[in-house]
Amino acid sequence: MVLPEDPSIELLRDLLSGGGPDEELFRSAHLKLLEEMGGRVYLRGLVEISNNCRKNCFYCGLRRDNASIDRYSMRPMEIMGSLRRGYRLGLRSFLLQSGELLGEEHLEMVAGILRSCSSTMPGARMVLSLGELPEEIYDRLRIAGGHRYLLRIETSSPVLYGHFHPDDPLHSHGARLRALEYLRDSGWQTGTGVLIGLPGQTVEDLAEDILFMKRMDMDMVGMGPYIESPGTPLLERADEIFPAETRILLTLRMIALTRLALPGVNIAATTALQTLSVSGLERGLLAGANVVMPNLTPERYRESYNLYTGKTRVRDTPSEMIDDLRDRCLAIGRELSLYDPGDPPHFKERTGRGESPDDDR
Ligand code: 5AD
Ligand code: SF4
Repeated sequence: MVLPEDPSIELLRDLLSGGGPDEELFRSAHLKLLEEMGGRVYLRGLVEISNNCRKNCFYCGLRRDNASIDRYSMRPMEIMGSLRRGYRLGLRSFLLQSGELLGEEHLEMVAGILRSCSSTMPGARMVLSLGELPEEIYDRLRIAGGHRYLLRIETSSPVLYGHFHPDDPLHSHGARLRALEYLRDSGWQTGTGVLIGLPGQTVEDLAEDILFMKRMDMDMVGMGPYIESPGTPLLERADEIFPAETRILLTLRMIALTRLALPGVNIAATTALQTLSVSGLERGLLAGANVVMPNLTPERYRESYNLYTGKTRVRDTPSEMIDDLRDRCLAIGRELSLYDPGDPPHFKERTGRGESPDDDR
């Protein structure tokens, strides 16, 4: 299967709805990955630094009005401890994630962590996923040592976005889009992604999402299936939620088509995919994903980072987790890459910038 460089919406829609044999689609995407970027699988050590959030998205367990979870914010020493442990094991890229928080104390704490990492963890790429922040904060965090930013658009359709978010200025699709454009144009390696299998979402919407990510010239993509989450309004529409296997298949087709349409980007086999399917890791990688995010968040906080139900409860140490990932990659003919930040070729093509993390400061 050869997908044209600029696939039409009709073709994407057709393939997303299972109009072609899936195995062939996945095999082509995997082949494309091997040709363009090789078979290495890159790791991002995830630290979920706080589960507080000022927003109220209808699908997410961390939403402000969900009073049933224990809220926490990790202390800087704890965060640095988790990062250092990962660095010693050979991880060279770390993702700091939290709900959306505008407090100066929180943001200055993150800036401090980035500064420490710049000076004590040479060669590491720092990835942030902290939601929509004012432009001057994005700049400050980049100057402090941030390299990559992930801001999911969740859906490229403003109408659908409106169905899953409160109708107020805090949840504006336009503002989210502008934040993403600002990140992309201000020197960040930029990633976005969407939720797949939301009630009422069509293959047409998902096809538009792929074209959106291409048009937006993204460097990284992280997308996963929607998963039911207790304490959220969307659960009230339970009868409209697609069966899990449908959401998994849609996600795998999205990964494959994104790989074919945006060849030089990094694509994650997300935790959500791995939660919904026990072989989600392997299936995601074989459909064209090349990034996995082992969770380095200390055990005592992990249970409170409840984006959705059933997030895999891992009792393994980070070292055991990496050994396990190495074995699982090898079993499908892929190689786990350590000591390498795994910059997406697309970033270099887009910006002409070198790959040293310090080139731009
Ligand atoms: N199922 C799957 N993913 C979810 N997210 C939030 N809630 C859910 C859910 N119920 C994702 C969103 C957000 C990211 C941090 O987690 O896409 O951007
Ligand atoms: Fe907050 Fe993100 Fe969850 Fe929305 S999806 S409630 S912004 S953590």
